[in-house]
Parts: sequence; structure tokens; C-alpha cells
Amino acid sequence: MKDEDFKALEFIDGRLRVIDQRELPEKLEYMDLSTAEEVSEAIKTMVVRGAPAIGGAAGYGVYFALLEAEGNKSVFERLCAMIRSSRPTAVNLMWAVDRVMRKAAASGYDKEAVLSEASLILEEDRAMNHKLSEIGVSVIRKGDTILTHCNAGALATCGWGTALGVIKEAHYRGMDIHVYADETRPLFQGARLTAWELVRAGIPSTLIPDSAAASLIRDGKIDLIILGADRITANGDVANKLGTFMLSVIAKEYGVPFYSVAPTSTIDFSMRDGKDIPIEERNPDEVRRPGGVLIAPEEIEIYNPAFDVTPHANITGIITEKGIIYPPFDKNIERIRRGEEL
Ligand code: MRU
Repeated sequence: MKDEDFKALEFIDGRLRVIDQRELPEKLEYMDLSTAEEVSEAIKTMVVRGAPAIGGAAGYGVYFALLEAEGNKSVFERLCAMIRSSRPTAVNLMWAVDRVMRKAAASGYDKEAVLSEASLILEEDRAMNHKLSEIGVSVIRKGDTILTHCNAGALATCGWGTALGVIKEAHYRGMDIHVYADETRPLFQGARLTAWELVRAGIPSTLIPDSAAASLIRDGKIDLIILGADRITANGDVANKLGTFMLSVIAKEYGVPFYSVAPTSTIDFSMRDGKDIPIEERNPDEVRRPGGVLIAPEEIEIYNPAFDVTPHANITGIITEKGIIYPPFDKNIERIRRGEEL
């Protein structure tokens, strides 16, 4: 186990310092956030992205909201609602805002208590990443070739990563793995962010266009697929970056194990079925002009969903800090909700 020498987010001198992920891989640039609105904007514009990192930033957003509200409860609640609605799919955002707001109410709106709760989210997520890696590495065999999608690494979390953390663990244990990373259109989190983390960590890896995954899987070049999650429903359906569902269908067809890795803060116990997960639709220009370059006629209609839902029937297992959830997912997720052993 080896921590990264960079942090996606860190609280320093009363400000939240985040890596501006829009600038990678060209520049490792930081941005300091100190208001609820700045946190909300950073989440919306994907300066900060990845479900656990969004949750981590949102916790501090609630702290800033409390400072700005100066004792006015309705201003505080309005600012918290603004943060909560910055992006709709990753449930870690709502989970973190609600958790820190609950602490605010329970502590009589004590600033120190609220700040410690926000910091606790970061610390817990860091520790959970390591737990996920220790548990998840058991599904990897020496010499495996692993496909991943989007970025579920240190940039997407408060620690060293969920899916990519498991992969890093296997590498540092000398398991002789090779990683294929999907470029992940249209925002290229795979090419810009995962490839950057893989290169930094010295993990043997290959970047592929998203559409190359199908033939690699068919040709037996992929031993397993490991990726993250933005929201997991009570029946085990998983919302994750657009393209995950397609990969799951191909993996099922060719019998390739398919794992999602996520802390239990990504489970939405209140939602029964993945069909109810709100899927964010983003600006058409992300498809029309990737990197600011026009690649399609201005007039063409564009559909740009940021996520899709993978049905639990296509998933081999969900790796959490409480253990690996296998089918029947609904029963085993209910056991986690009740605090029982898996
Ligand atoms: O739109 P993004 O970049 O926030 O999407 C990120 C993903 O889909 C990740 O796979 C997911 O949040 C898990 S991150 C540990």
C-alpha cells in the first residue's frame, strides 16, 4: 500500500484546496475554495469530480455555508440546498451534505463540530479506500489483464482510489497485472486522469478508445473489469460513467467477471431500483467541441448523458469496505443496511 503524493482535496488554512481536474494531464494546478458557491461551482464544472471526492468537497461546502449564514438558519439551508443540487447522480453528494447538516443541527450549529464532521468524511474515505483495496485485491490473480472505465482513482476520492486503488494494490503486491483504460468520452476522464495516475504509479497499462473494449473482451484479452460507482440502489443496480452498461453487456456475453468498487456511502438504501436514479445530462458542447475544437455541425442535436445504469444481473460483485457483495444483491445489501456481516 502506498499513498499518492498528491491529494484531490485538502483543507488548508481555512480553505479547501482542490486539484483543478480540468487542467490535467497538461498541468497539475490547484484551486482554493472558501465559499459554498465556489464549492458548488467546482462540482458542477468538474474541477472536482468522482463520487467520493464530490462528497468530500460538499462536506466542507456545508461548513462554508454555516460561516456565511452568520446564524441565519434559512440562509444556511438555502446554501446547503444549492450544494446538494450541484450534480444529480452521485449519491455521495447528498449523503455528505445531509450528514454534515445533521451534525450542524445536533451541535447547535457549532462551527468546530461542523468542521470536524467535514474532515471526518475525508479521513474515513481515505481509510475506506485502503480497506477496499485489501478486500478487492482478492478478485485479482497474478498476471491478470484488467479493464477499467472512467477514473475511480485518487483524483476521484479523498484517498488513493476505489477501483483504481484495488488495481494499485495488486501492482504494489507484484501481481504482474496489465491495465487497459478506456479513454471515456466525451470528457476523457480515462485518458486525462486514469492514464495520468497509471503512468505516475508505474503500472503497465494501455489506453484504448472506448469502442476497442468489445473486441478485446471477445478475443480473451481481458481477464476482469473493475470500475467505480456513483450510486448503487438497494437491488444492486449501479449507476456509473456512461459506457459502463455497454461494457457489462459485453462482459456478460463473454463470461468476463465484472466488479464495481465503492464505499457504502455510495449505496442509496432508500432507492429500490436503478431505474429511479436521476441521470445527469450535460452540455451538448462537451460532445460537439471536445477540448474546444468543433467536431460536429453546430446544428446537430446532441444527447449527452453523463452516466448509465448497469443492472445487477450483469454484475459479478460489488466490492465495499464491508466485504464483497455477491448475488442475491438485494438480500446482501439489506444485511449491510442492518449492520450485519456479509
Ligand atoms: O462525471 P464524473 O467524472 O464525476 O464520473 C465519475 C465516475 O463515473 C466514477 O466512476 C465514479 O464516480 C466513481 S469514482 C471513485
